[in-house]
Parts: sequence; structure tokens; C-alpha cells
Amino acid sequence: MKPLLYVLGTAFSGVMIASCASVPPGDTYASEGERLYAENCSRCHRQPEQFSTQGNETLKRTISKGTHKMPAFPDITAEEQQEIIAYIRNL
Ligand code: HEC
Repeated sequence: MKPLLYVLGTAFSGVMIASCASVPPGDTYASEGERLYAENCSRCHRQPEQFSTQGNETLKRTISKGTHKMPAFPDITAEEQQEIIAYIRNL
């Protein structure tokens, strides 16, 4: 009986951790830029402050065209790019 309970307990706590880590959409972001960054960029770039030295045009081009191994984000509009940049600049 013990091993089964252990497996169930482990699975349950895994679910608890997963649900705590995911941010509910919409209401916990300080800005639109923060939300866009969280949804599109943070899975690869955990630390947005690393981009603070890059120029606006470089950032916009990287977002819309991608670079090397980074995919392009053609669906992110110019306004949204601006929101993301504002978020990166104000960290
Ligand atoms: C699938 C993973 C992935 C996602 C998602 C992603 N990036 Fe990247 N990004 C990369 C990789 C990999 C590089 C390094 C590119 C290289 O030199 O190969 C990179 C590089 C960059 C650079 C540096 C470019 C340079 O020339 O130095 C910037 C700025 C950047 N990403 C911004 C963003 C932003 C903003 C988003 C969200 C819109 C984003 N990235 C989403 C993978 C990703």
C-alpha cells in the first residue's frame, strides 16, 4: 500500500506546484508589456534586463524577424513591440 500512496502523493504535489507557478492571465501583470513578454519571450529569456543595453531598432527587428536560433514574431504589432521595449527599459 505504501508505494501506491507515495506515488499518488508525489503526483498530487506536482500538480499543486504546477498550478501555483502558472500566473492567471490578465490580472496579475503590471503592464501590457510585462504580459506580452511573459507570454512570448520568458520561456527562452528568463531575464529581460539582459536586453536593456540594446537599441530600440535592434529590439524591434529581433522581435519581428528573429535572429539565428530565435524565431520571428510576425504577429506582434508595432505597438506591442513598443510595450515590450517599455517593459524591458523600466525594470
Ligand atoms: C524559442 C526561444 C526564444 C523565444 C520565444 C524568444 N527568443 Fe529571443 N533569442 C533566442 C535565442 C536562441 C537568441 C540568441 C540568438 C542567437 O544568437 O542565436 C535570442 C536572442 C535575442 C535577443 C538578442 C539579439 C542580439 O542580436 O543580440 C533579443 C533582444 C531577444 N532575443 C529578444 C526576444 C524577445 C523580446 C522575445 C519575445 C518577443 C524573444 N526574444 C523570444 C530565443 C528565443
